Amino acid sequence: MPEARVALIGFMGCGKSTVGPILAGLLGYSFVDTDDLVVERAGIPIPEIFRRHGEPAFRRMETQALAELTLRSAVVIATGGGAPLQPANREFFALEARTFHLRVSFAEALSRTAGDTKRPLLDQGQPALQRLFDARLPVYESLGQPVETDRRSPTEIAAEIRATLARPSPSVGPGGSGG
Ligand code: S3P
Repeated sequence: MPEARVALIGFMGCGKSTVGPILAGLLGYSFVDTDDLVVERAGIPIPEIFRRHGEPAFRRMETQALAELTLRSAVVIATGGGAPLQPANREFFALEARTFHLRVSFAEALSRTAGDTKRPLLDQGQPALQRLFDARLPVYESLGQPVETDRRSPTEIAAEIRATLARPSPSVGPGGSGG
């Protein structure tokens, strides 16, 4: 059942990898980060995957990692910021997991990722990054239940998600799947 699989999506710096383990602790679930799965499997860090094999290769590995997670339950999954953009991954977020979009403003995302050298897409300069942010936002919004993160602590955010999970899923309304 998707409720036993919680996916966190959102732009780089939104806090998926920080909130994820806290949420997993609250739920008694395990925590997985798809970036870590990809790095583990490739045996090289993400910037090197991009450099040596190109972004499309990284995306294929990311899709593979997500697909494998359909076999796991009682798990909180932090996903790379580009994962929801791949059509092949959309079904995962829509049907295989309860998906939350950690909303972050562009300014906050920039400040949280300043000086980071592990995210190759940050190298493209601010105007291009802003365009990427704007283009991705509607996709995140369409796939995940929104959770605000600006000026909030990871603990607060995780607690909000846990409280939301304790309530019935919004997709099951009155007269819904019932039983
Ligand atoms: C990416 C985000 C990164 C990582 C890769 C590409 C993206 O993950 O998957 O560098 O396309 O936004 P985070 O969102 O955890 O930074």
